[in-house]
Amino acid sequence: MAEATIIDGKATAALLRAKIGRRAAALRASEGIVPGLATVLVGDDPASRVYVRNKVRQADETGLHGVTQALDETTTEAELVARVREFNDDPEIHGILVQLPLPDHIDADVVIDTIDPDKDVDGFHAINAGRLMIGRPGFVPCTPVGCMMLIDSVLDDLTGANAVVVGRSNIVGKPMAQLLLARHCTVTVAHSRTRDLAEMCRRADILVAAVGRPKMIEDGWIKPGAVVIDVGINRIAAEEEGKTRLVGDVDFEAARQVAGAITPVPGGVGPMTIACLLRNTLEAACRQNGVAVPGENAAA
Ligand SMILES: NC(=O)c1ccc[n+]([C@@H]2O[C@H](COP(=O)([O-])OP(=O)(O)OC[C@H]3O[C@@H](n4cnc5c(N)ncnc54)[C@H](OP(=O)(O)O)[C@@H]3O)[C@@H](O)[C@H]2O)c1
Repeated sequence: MAEATIIDGKATAALLRAKIGRRAAALRASEGIVPGLATVLVGDDPASRVYVRNKVRQADETGLHGVTQALDETTTEAELVARVREFNDDPEIHGILVQLPLPDHIDADVVIDTIDPDKDVDGFHAINAGRLMIGRPGFVPCTPVGCMMLIDSVLDDLTGANAVVVGRSNIVGKPMAQLLLARHCTVTVAHSRTRDLAEMCRRADILVAAVGRPKMIEDGWIKPGAVVIDVGINRIAAEEEGKTRLVGDVDFEAARQVAGAITPVPGGVGPMTIACLLRNTLEAACRQNGVAVPGENAAA
């Protein structure tokens, strides 16, 4: 059997950012609106700092307006909630993102509940989770939206496909399952208590891994020709002493011999997440101003 198509998330994300940039330029020209994204960072977790920096940099490069609010580790829940409320009331901010994880003394649910659902570009607010569940328009978490775009880049029709999502987190697994269901897949959500996970995975025409366990999914778990989307980001020791490298939840080199199409790690799902955040922010700005998202023609 031929090797799998490698789904290039980096290139797809670059195309998406370019499209958002053209639409943002059209919005600015026609309405004088610049979509504003506020990212709030509490404490100095090094990984979170990098994520926030990348989000704001890519927002600015795409013609959006990125604002970072860096708060001290000792910030109280009440102070953070008050800052989020200020962004809720700021007409130049259309999207608000609070970088997780938060320090232990802050309840993330309380903070997310404070974000105006119409500015919740991460799609984590219970109202947006509910909207997704019942098929109403709202904001959908960025990583699963990016996964759907990558699936669409290799599959014409998802109707009736068996989809297996491994992982049931609120930010990836559950919304991913909802999106696949909305596209008429037959969806199974697997997790740490699932019996005979390998057998479950082997039934999947579309297999999405969002677990956080390096190379857990082996080639023998994959149906020949399946589309495999690897959300996992795991840092492991590299062959060279003292170095590390990133791997997914799927054993990529083995799986590519069996799958029909597969995302690599890095360079697969990861780059799509920020691009989808920018897309949500553009959409938020349009909705809050009661204007349609400019089409490609409007940018010409
Ligand atoms: N590419 C991106 O932009 C992006 C974005 C978000 C996350 N990620 C990565 O995606 C991975 C998952 O993230 P997450 O936030 O969804 O993680 P999470 O909240 O830790 O959820 C992990 C899920 O995997 C399940 N699981 C754990 N061990 C398992 C096993 N042995 N067999 C089957 N299922 C198992 C857990 O089941 P239980 O519910 O039973 O505990 C849970 O539902 C991580 O590597 C994360 O870094 C990447």
